[in-house]
Amino acid sequence: MLIGVLVPVAVLLVIVAVSGHQITFIPNGTFFGNPNGASETYSTTGEGVDLTGPFFQSLGTNGRSCGSCHQPSDGMSVSAANVQQRFLQTQGHDPIFRTNDGSNCNHSIDVSTLAGRSAAYSLLRTRGLIRIAIAVPASADYRVVAANNPYGCNESDVISMYRRPLPSTNLRFLSAVMFDGRESSASTGTTKILYSNYPPSLLNDLAHQSVDATTGHAQGDGSRPTPNEQQEIVNFEMALSTAQIIDNDAGRLDTHGATGGPVPLTTQPFFISVNSSVHFLLPQFEQPGGLVTPGDGQFTPAIFNPFDSWASMPAMSPRAAIARGQAIFNSKAINISGVAGINDDVSAGGLVAGGIPSLMGTCATCHDTPNVGNHSFPTPLNIGTGDPDPSNLAANLGGLDVSYLPSITVCKLDLATNPPTPTSNCKTTTDLGQALIDGKFAHVGKVKGPILRGLSARAPYFHNGSARTLMDAVHFYEVRFGLALTPQEESDLIAFLSVL
Ligand code: HEC
Ligand code: HEC
Repeated sequence: MLIGVLVPVAVLLVIVAVSGHQITFIPNGTFFGNPNGASETYSTTGEGVDLTGPFFQSLGTNGRSCGSCHQPSDGMSVSAANVQQRFLQTQGHDPIFRTNDGSNCNHSIDVSTLAGRSAAYSLLRTRGLIRIAIAVPASADYRVVAANNPYGCNESDVISMYRRPLPSTNLRFLSAVMFDGRESSASTGTTKILYSNYPPSLLNDLAHQSVDATTGHAQGDGSRPTPNEQQEIVNFEMALSTAQIIDNDAGRLDTHGATGGPVPLTTQPFFISVNSSVHFLLPQFEQPGGLVTPGDGQFTPAIFNPFDSWASMPAMSPRAAIARGQAIFNSKAINISGVAGINDDVSAGGLVAGGIPSLMGTCATCHDTPNVGNHSFPTPLNIGTGDPDPSNLAANLGGLDVSYLPSITVCKLDLATNPPTPTSNCKTTTDLGQALIDGKFAHVGKVKGPILRGLSARAPYFHNGSARTLMDAVHFYEVRFGLALTPQEESDLIAFLSVL
């Protein structure tokens, strides 16, 4: 049986770590079981994942490594189920359970008892969330007027938000590093990733990120990673490709003409704005100085093609369902409105975004990198995944329940008064997104769309883990965008997302 073969691989890693026989290498071709089948992380260097490099070493002071939150078994992120299993196995002592950012808040907590640890790490255990605390920039054109945090982190100068570890794989396709792009931003001394500076910009941003991650998550003293170790970490990350390789119902995803699994990703052509829908619609939004790139005018919504050849399979077969789901993703019309970053006219925001009141697009309009699904040009968007919903009405209708998150209210400042005073133009959100990096009110709640490969290995979804399943994520699009899908279409789309 498939699962009989697969599950022991995942369990093995845990068992050997406990018994002291350290596994040091995961050869290419190793499959890691997950609820929908298995994923594979493939390395173009060294024929596998070397578990002895700096990525897996404790470089700080609290025992954590990058691997604490970026696990090969979980598509280089970490699923909430994996975190909960580690909690049970170690009684909450695994290094991922640290109070600097692993607990719901870092003050007024008691982690001396098992019950205390269970409560303190509840968001990490149940949603796989890490607390990201970021100071409001001094230059912000807004003021935080309320920060209601259910766990006590109510400070209004440093805002606590809760985010999922982004996968540290398939990084060759990134157009921005971190959900809020803070490792690719002039505001933090890093570099915005453009056609003209890629890939050096990306490589520099990733090196910078490895330093910040060590001082932040691992409470390092700044001495490590050394420049050599930074280089090793970036080389390690850039060599990785991850995708689902086996589906419980459809079997291997690289047979019968299909090109699923990680290996085809290693030769997937990419450059910044390779297929940018926004660039296509709004040329002024993209390359500074109107730079012409080979991607100009080239937009195609046929983003994914690995399962094209399964379209001719018998309609009842799991493979045909996946092919139908792929077609829905590529072509089903979705009315995009109210999305900051596309539909607003943000004349104050530096780069002028959007200005199209409503746009008939597809899933592919925002997830446009071919066979990968992030945006091929940095395009932070607010699709409403972080909107608070006090009545919880949307959740009842199939929308997202974000009641476990803080509620943060910011008001735009009137800069003509001295000192500037808050206006009545206010927004309430659970995550300030890009606005906390560049200080712009217009950027409240904007985050990047992540790469859509390896989804089955890393539930829950969205930056705040509010979609526990892919079904929840699809329901969100139905509620938020009025997307009408039949039950058959829903299940086909989910079958497709599960095999990415
Ligand atoms: C305690 C958990 C944790 C540890 C330890 C950790 N990370 Fe992360 N990582 C995260 C979270 C959470 C995010 C997303 C945060 C955000 O966007 O604000 C992230 C994001 C990233 C990203 C961005 C990927 C993308 O798509 O933008 C990279 C790369 C990354 N981490 C690499 C590393 C490296 C290298 C290390 C070790 C030096 C490390 N991480 C240690 C939790 C962790
Ligand atoms: C208007 C732009 C837009 C459209 C249209 C769109 N998405 Fe998204 N998608 C995003 C953004 C932005 C995110 C990140 C949101 C977050 O993390 O809170 C995202 C996140 C996701 C995620 C979660 C990924 C993860 O790693 O957590 C999935 C799954 C997804 N989208 C699937 C779809 C599907 C399926 C469709 C079509 C029905 C679709 N998207 C249409 C912008 C869009």
